[in-house]
This record gives sequence, C-alpha cells and structure tokens, in this order.
Amino acid sequence: MDKELENGSPGVKVGRVMTQVFVLIFLLQGVRSTTSLNNLNVTKPGQKQSPPVTLRKVGHNQVVVDNGIIQVSFSSPAGLITGIKYNGFNNVLNDQIENRGLVGEKFNIVNQTSEHVEISFSRTWNISQHTSGAPLNVDKRYIIRSGVSGVYMYAVLERLKGWPDVNMDQTRIVFKLNTTKFDYMAISDGRQKIMPSATDRDIKTGRASPLAYKEAVHLINPQNHILKGQVDDKYMYSMENKDNKVHGWISADQRVGFWMITPSDEFRSCGPIKQDLTSHVGPTILSMFTSVHYAGVDINTIYKSKEPWRKMFGPVFVYLNSASSRNLLWTDAKRQMVSEVQSWPYDFVKSVDYPLHHQRGIVKGRIFVMERYNKSETNLFGKFAFVGLALPGEAGSWQTENKGYQFWTRADKVGMFTIANVRPGKYSLYAWVSGFIGDYKYERDITITPGRVIDVGRIVYEPPRNGPTLWEIGEPDRTAAEFYIPDPDPTLLTKLYLNYSNPQDRFRQYGLWDRYSVLYPRKDLIFTTRVSDFKKDWFYAHVNRKAGNGTYKATTWQIKFNLKAVIQTRIYTLRIALAAATTTDLVVWVNQANSKPLFITGLIGRDNAIARHGIHGLYKLYNIDVHGKLLRVGNNTIFLTHGRNSDSFSGVMYDYLRLEGPSGV
Ligand SMILES: *[C@@H]1O[C@H](CO)[C@@H](O)[C@H](O)[C@H]1NC(C)=O
Ligand SMILES: *[C@@H]1O[C@H](CO)[C@@H](O)[C@H](O)[C@H]1NC(C)=O
Ligand SMILES: *[C@@H]1O[C@H](CO)[C@@H](O)[C@H](O)[C@H]1NC(C)=O
Ligand SMILES: *[C@@H]1O[C@H](CO)[C@@H](O)[C@H](O)[C@H]1NC(C)=O
Repeated sequence: MDKELENGSPGVKVGRVMTQVFVLIFLLQGVRSTTSLNNLNVTKPGQKQSPPVTLRKVGHNQVVVDNGIIQVSFSSPAGLITGIKYNGFNNVLNDQIENRGLVGEKFNIVNQTSEHVEISFSRTWNISQHTSGAPLNVDKRYIIRSGVSGVYMYAVLERLKGWPDVNMDQTRIVFKLNTTKFDYMAISDGRQKIMPSATDRDIKTGRASPLAYKEAVHLINPQNHILKGQVDDKYMYSMENKDNKVHGWISADQRVGFWMITPSDEFRSCGPIKQDLTSHVGPTILSMFTSVHYAGVDINTIYKSKEPWRKMFGPVFVYLNSASSRNLLWTDAKRQMVSEVQSWPYDFVKSVDYPLHHQRGIVKGRIFVMERYNKSETNLFGKFAFVGLALPGEAGSWQTENKGYQFWTRADKVGMFTIANVRPGKYSLYAWVSGFIGDYKYERDITITPGRVIDVGRIVYEPPRNGPTLWEIGEPDRTAAEFYIPDPDPTLLTKLYLNYSNPQDRFRQYGLWDRYSVLYPRKDLIFTTRVSDFKKDWFYAHVNRKAGNGTYKATTWQIKFNLKAVIQTRIYTLRIALAAATTTDLVVWVNQANSKPLFITGLIGRDNAIARHGIHGLYKLYNIDVHGKLLRVGNNTIFLTHGRNSDSFSGVMYDYLRLEGPSGV
C-alpha cells in the first residue's frame, strides 16, 4: 500500500482510518474466446463493417463482452476485469493477481445494442453491515462499443448522511499486465524506456539493493543488463494532472500497446498541477483519481458522517493497439487520446451522473493583472493564466480540494479564457498567473445550470504588493525548476533523465537532495543579490546536511543584499513563496542570526515532493513585515533556517523570494 510520508516522522499515521477505495486489480479466469480480429485501423463506432458487440454470461460468475476486436471478461457480480483478449494475446493482463478493491454485488445490463454495451456492477452499503468494507455505495460501469479497440470505465461513489466517517486517501484504477510480455513504458514523448521487471526489484535475491525508501531500488543484477546500475522508483514517472492524458505499456514482442487515456481532468482532485503516479514497474498502469501524493495531509480526505457525497470518477478509456514498432504504437495512442479529448463529454454514457454536452455550461471572460509597481502602471494581460472552477472556498483552496469536480483552462496570451463543459453546480472561479505571486478568486460564486453561458467580462488580479522590488530570487511560477538542479550521484542515476534534450526533466533523478551535502560539505549556501545567479547559485531544495552516521543537521542559508538608503520608520515586505514543504519549520532572521527570529512558519508541509522528485508540492506564500529599523544602509543579510533537524527529505523548495521597499518610495 502506498503510504504518504513513509519517510517522514513516525506517528503521522497514528489514529487514522486508512481505507483505500476503488482499487481494481484484475484476475484471469482462463476464458475460452471466440475469434478476434487483429485490427489496428479502428473504425468509427457504428460503422456498418464493424461486427456487433455481444454479451454472454458464462456460468454463474462471469460475463464476457466481445466486439470482434477485444474480448473482455468480468467476474460477476464483483465486476473486476479478469481478462482482455486481444491480437493474439489470450490475456494481456497478468493472470496471477489477487483480487482487491471494491467489489460489486449486483450485475445489471444498463444498455445493450449491437453497437454498444454498458454494464454495471454495483454494491449498496448498509449501515447494519458495518464490517463489510468502506461505507460507500459503488456503481462500477464498463462500456464496450462496436469497432472500438478498448473499454470505457467509470465509477459512481456515494455516501449518505449519517454513515460513519471514512478516510479515503486514494481512489484509483489499477491494471497489472502480462509480466513477461510488456517491457517498454511510455508516458510522454521524452519519457519512455525499457523497464525492469518486478523481479529485478527483488532485494532478497540480490537483484536490487535498497535505497532510502522502499519504492526506490538500485538495480544491481537485472535480467536486462542495459538497466544495470540504474535506479528504479515509481515516483520518477509522476506527472501533473494537466499533462496526464495518455500513458502505458508496449509489448514489443507481440506488437501490442496498452494505454490509459484520460480525456478530462474534471474528476481528478486538487487542480491541474497536482502530480500523481502514472505507470510503473509491475507492469502496472494506473488511473489515479484522488490521492495525497505531492500534497499530504493538507488535502481534505476525510469524509464526514454529516457530509453526504456523490461523485463520478471517469470515464477513462483503456485503449489497446497493435502496430509494427514502438514509435507507431505510441503515435497511435496519442492520436487516439486526441480523439477522445475531442469527443468529451461523450454522448454515449448512460448515467444520471454524467451530464451531456447540452446539459453543461460555459464560463468565459478576460483576465488582467494589475501590478502597481510595474513600469507602465497599466493592467497587464493575464497571459496564459490558469483559470478554473472548483468547489467554493478561499483563494487557492482548489489545490487541496479533493471532493468535487474541477474545470480548468489556460487563458491565451491576451488573457481571454473559456471554460467549457462545466457540470451544473456551484463553484468559485480561481486563477493564478505565472510571473506573479498569489492567488486570484472572483468575488462572487458561480452557479452553472444546463446550457448556461456566463461571461464574467474583465476580471483583474491584483497580486500582493506593498512597494517596489529591492531584489528578487527565482521566478514566481510555483516550481523550483528554474533553480540549480545538480547532476545525480554518478553511481545512482537514471539514464532516462540524462537526456539533455529534456532539461525540464533533470529534477526527476533519484537522490538529488543529498547532493547538497556534496556541494556544501561544511558551509551553507550564500546568495548575494546582483552578484549571484539563481540558476547556478540557488540549490533547488533547502534541505538538511549529512552529518555522518545517517544523521542530518539543519542548514542556514543567507541572502546578502546592499541597500543604498533605509527609511527606518517604514515597513518593508519580504515575500517568500514556497513550491513545496515537508516537515519543516522555516525560521527567518534579518541581520542577526540566532537573535529573535523575524518570522517562523511553524511546522509545515507534508507534500513529500523532495523525496518523490516532484519539483513542487503545495504552493504557500508568506508575506512578512520587515521593520525599517532592522535594516541598515550598506550590507544586510537575511538568514533562512530550515529548522527541523530530522532527515534527508524534510525541507522546502522555494518558488520565489522578494524584498519590497515601503509603499510610495
Ligand atoms: C503472458 O503471455 C504469455 C503468452 O500469451 C503466456 O504464455 C503467459 O502465461 C502470460 N504470463 C502471465 C504472467 O500472464
Ligand atoms: C531525448 O529527448 C528528445 C525530446 O523529447 C527525444 O526526441 C529523444 O528521442 C530523446 N533521446 C533519447 C536518447 O532518449
Ligand atoms: C558514529 O559512528 C561511529 C562509528 O560507529 C561512532 O564511534 C560514533 O560515536 C558515532 N557518532 C554518533 C554521533 O553517533
Ligand atoms: C558588502 O558586501 C559586498 C558583497 O558581498 C562585499 O564585497 C563588501 O566587502 C561588503 N562590505 C562591507 C562593508 O562589509
């Protein structure tokens, strides 16, 4: 089981109810099949030449749906996919997988024509049966269409008022594929490779040796020698929600691809830049709906007794293809992804929980940014702003919002935006703009009704700002990617991320946090404004230093800056934007380290983004008053101590720092 913060301070988990919901792992029943066509050229649904979709019940506990391209077997009424027969594979799935997850108790045919079969496996929770699983009503649905090489799947989860509290850390779909056949993983154009097998990760047999946490291993003696010496860790393959639209596996041997296609983000949690797992060794392929990865306990994952809740996850599309090369398989998977995105919302889903296109609404407008201290003093376009709708809340609350639907878009270069296909409901309108600190929220909540188009017109984001910039470090973009990302330890690298055509992926290497101790063996980082360059001189993560015997010591960084004049009676403002924080307590001093601190964050952060090679976790902005009498004409120093002296993964990643003079100066 994935545990948040397995490397963090012990005790985090104490007293928490852990229930993993909707873990669907699939088990083979050895189905005899009818003929299947080896058909890559997927035809449009409903075209005359496609064979009909058929549904058969086999014995008491199996349902088989076949469209002549794929044949899918389901355990019934549990509703787990037990086999997918395709293109010469009797089963593309692993045949030795235990049966976990939410199981149905009732099978039902929702819709059956020669072109379309939708089936349901459901379970109704009863308050009198406290012991049987999570307090949830579950309806798992599968759709197989004529001429379509794959399966659509979704689930509706529901809790009624008065049901016991439950903590759902993760909601996801899992497939395990045939271990001997699927050996190549592709999650983006630049992130694809031959993968180790699950056996290669085995520490007991000496194939691998352990690293700092259990998900990461050093491959000592893998079956495929080209992987020898590399690191494997599923968190290396994480992706932001907005980019996570297609990923999967290839069997080069059988010339088959197996892909998870997610045409919309609306049912995922925590907004477009939330990161989550994709595919990893197993061969495993995931569709993560909600999780605490890269966010931690700051996400609201507790479903309270008094809080009724109902949500549809999906549909996602499991797509299978066949072609003569990996490149063709990946290219075809991307093409299919684009086609699914364009078809969203699907017109063939038969669920009261799935509004069709005409039942959804639109919000549009144009966003500007008003920066009082920008040179021209006029409103700037909210260039490429992220604009989105999520449950009503505070500005920025979308990043920990886990229970509703979210709808996001990017504005164009002049700030125009349209959020289409919004489900009816009540939302707040949120935004943030790269290049500016802070979060925008529209003053009124927005209620979407079917077919409604709401034009909010001109909206203006005024980022926090008290005075002119005296100095700044980094770029306000909610990541630490612009700072210095070190080379990995040469004995612990992953070749995939040595490809310098993809410099944006350098941070995904294992163990970069420990490079701080190598680069700064005795003295901590000192950054001198106007002299130092944040791209080279600002380490991407403020972490502890190795102190021998497996212990780590707190570190203090310094920002040195020169002021030509100081107004002793006025207030200056220090802005510290964090891209991530893990069990840290950031302490800030001005000019006198170890005197009374200017500011203390208190214990913050559970996002674990440093250990999991995310270049950001949750965004946090601190606005700190600095009284002029603390500053002096000439040289000044700000000291930043990451003050929990615990382990290698606690610390912060800064997004951006700025000192502002007093207003009107
Ligand atoms: C993988 O597929 C091959 C060929 O279809 C089959 O012989 C083997 O049993 C499968 N292995 C697993 C683990 O499913
Ligand atoms: C490096 O990345 C580029 C850009 O994504 C890709 O086209 C190329 O194939 C990669 N090279 C290697 C050796 O993986
Ligand atoms: C570190 O380990 C060495 C050798 O085992 C031991 O002598 C020393 O006391 C240890 N130091 C600390 C601080 O634990
Ligand atoms: C002020 O800082 C600069 C840059 O670090 C340094 O060269 C200079 O010697 C300092 N001046 C004093 C008076 O300490």
